[in-house]
Amino acid sequence: MTDQPAGTYAPSADMAANAHADKATYEKMYAASINDPETFWGEHGKRLDWIKPYTRVKNTSFAPGNVDIKWFDDGTLNVSANCIDRHLATRGDQTAIIWEPDSPDDEALHITYNMLHEKTSLMANVLKEMGVGKGDRVVLYLPMIPEAAYAMLACARIGAIHSIVFAGFSAEALGARVNACDAKVVITADGAQRGGRVTNLKDSVNQALLNDFDEVKCLLVKRTGQQIAWRDGLDYWLHEMEEKVSADCPAEEMSAEDPLFILYTSGSTGQPKGVVHSTGGYLVYAAMTQQYTFDYHDGDIFWCTADVGWVTGHSYIVYGPLANGATTIMFEGVPTYPDAGRFWAVCEKHKVNQFYTAPTAIRALMAQGNDYVTKYDLSDIKVLGTVGEPINPEAWNWYNDIVGKGNCPIVDTWWQTETGGHLLTPLPGATATKPGSATLPFFGIQPVILEPTSGEEIHDTAAEGVLCIKDSWPAQMRTVWGDHERFEKTYFSDYKNYYFTGDGCKRDEDGYYWITGRVDDVINVSGHRMGTAEVESALVAHAKVAEAAVVGYPHDIKGQGIYAYVTLMNGEEPSDELRKELEVWVRSEIGPIAKPDLLQWAPGLPKTRSGKIMRRILRKIAEDDFGALGDTSTLADPSVVDDLIENRMNKA
Ligand code: WTA
Repeated sequence: MTDQPAGTYAPSADMAANAHADKATYEKMYAASINDPETFWGEHGKRLDWIKPYTRVKNTSFAPGNVDIKWFDDGTLNVSANCIDRHLATRGDQTAIIWEPDSPDDEALHITYNMLHEKTSLMANVLKEMGVGKGDRVVLYLPMIPEAAYAMLACARIGAIHSIVFAGFSAEALGARVNACDAKVVITADGAQRGGRVTNLKDSVNQALLNDFDEVKCLLVKRTGQQIAWRDGLDYWLHEMEEKVSADCPAEEMSAEDPLFILYTSGSTGQPKGVVHSTGGYLVYAAMTQQYTFDYHDGDIFWCTADVGWVTGHSYIVYGPLANGATTIMFEGVPTYPDAGRFWAVCEKHKVNQFYTAPTAIRALMAQGNDYVTKYDLSDIKVLGTVGEPINPEAWNWYNDIVGKGNCPIVDTWWQTETGGHLLTPLPGATATKPGSATLPFFGIQPVILEPTSGEEIHDTAAEGVLCIKDSWPAQMRTVWGDHERFEKTYFSDYKNYYFTGDGCKRDEDGYYWITGRVDDVINVSGHRMGTAEVESALVAHAKVAEAAVVGYPHDIKGQGIYAYVTLMNGEEPSDELRKELEVWVRSEIGPIAKPDLLQWAPGLPKTRSGKIMRRILRKIAEDDFGALGDTSTLADPSVVDDLIENRMNKA
């Protein structure tokens, strides 16, 4: 291509010709989706099998005080039947899930749609046997084993609502989530195996269920065979229960608007919110994005490296791919075990066609050198994807040159737990990419950039401000579990009549979107969302801590690191032991991902006279950029700043 601006990568002619959408198709479909969403989604909703077809398509309002989102709401269907049963006649013997175990010496499992049907039905009947019914909540606290997918689909099959808690979260965090959704059953495993190490999951569950939740039953998958503490009358082995139930479990007829799952995610204030996703709209959108964003074709092998504990695993390991009758890989291990070539070894072994991972993983592997990549045959890869945080151009270029050999379009997908699926993303055959830009909106998405203080929409093509979405899309979250008011307040009150994403964004002269990061007190550590307020409240829960303030700072591999300022109680002395103790404490309150990377003892925190902590200043000091502190004259005691600068942890 000759007229291509520098730094952009247009799809090859071959890719454009064979893709589900080339540029003209994308533009035509996008225009149709915006001009007449009813007709567009009415048509694309038919990609699912409905028990009772919908007659209404879009029924949504972002109006202040009346936020109400419904799609296909008089239709009925079952997600498990859509992900399994409807494929059986044509692809019962096709592999649905390739399970790649932690150790490369263990054998991968090829789970066909027939096997998936049997395993899911058995687990669904086991759950029924344990008293779980339609609308009940089931918490999953599982490693990346096939049973995680069976459990999700088993819940969907009987109309139970699952809430997955990432197995890296602590007992404390698990207990809070079990309690928040009032779960009847927790599904877990004896232990987890990751990176050659074994951790005990059942212990965490026991600890989480110790006090308040005596009634909560536990369904246990045997994975590691390690010793566990058994709770008589409350614990059940899956393999024993499976012997007692039939392998026939009819799929429950669900309304399109029945909740499919809850997923807790961090916000800028308070405890994590239970994001609620729907049955119909969610699945339509997860399936459609999986197909178009990755240009997935029948017979392709698709690999999303996320954990099912995050939304990416929900939409792009399980629901999207399986609704499309795809072959999806589920990987138990980590990118660096047994060495930094594992991703590429798995790509070669299973002939992966679409590979989807996070910038933090790309940066970590890039740092290990190219040999780990180049010794494998990656010629089956057609499309590379990223998600979770802005990707820096160096990492983008490495991914493009070394992994993709310059032949694979990179889809930088911007989305959120709340959005259910991709909102901004290139399509491989349609969109010329620019390193670091999530490019253009998916069908049906109307991004707008608002001036942050006035809330006015900026209409110029080149613009910078906060990113909002003008109208609803099928996979939009429906509410915060048990707290619709918080839903409205968090997403629809700062900027009226828009969905507020919490992200800052630039739009360039070509209309391309560039996410600049969160504008609220959420930080993104290795692609994991973390509320600074959560880490702060964990720290101040420690008896020796008087006050804490947490901010993010740029980190080479993780994207952002966690920087904590801690003021001790009177009479407590800072020491290395206490620092260790606080680190262990945060791990046990939340999980290893919340452990501060840098912890500074702060005799005082910079506050305004009304007592508000000036985070702007703390962020600057953490960034080692204290030359630009701005006006500190409004501080109650400006001298605390000098001490913080003097003792900063991040000196260049
Ligand atoms: C960030 C993950 C830049 C963003 C699916 C968003 C990104 C938050 C990208 C959501 C991307 C996600 N480029 N930033 N491609 N993808 N983010 O809920 O700040 O875990 O608001 O969902 O991650 O994180 P969450």
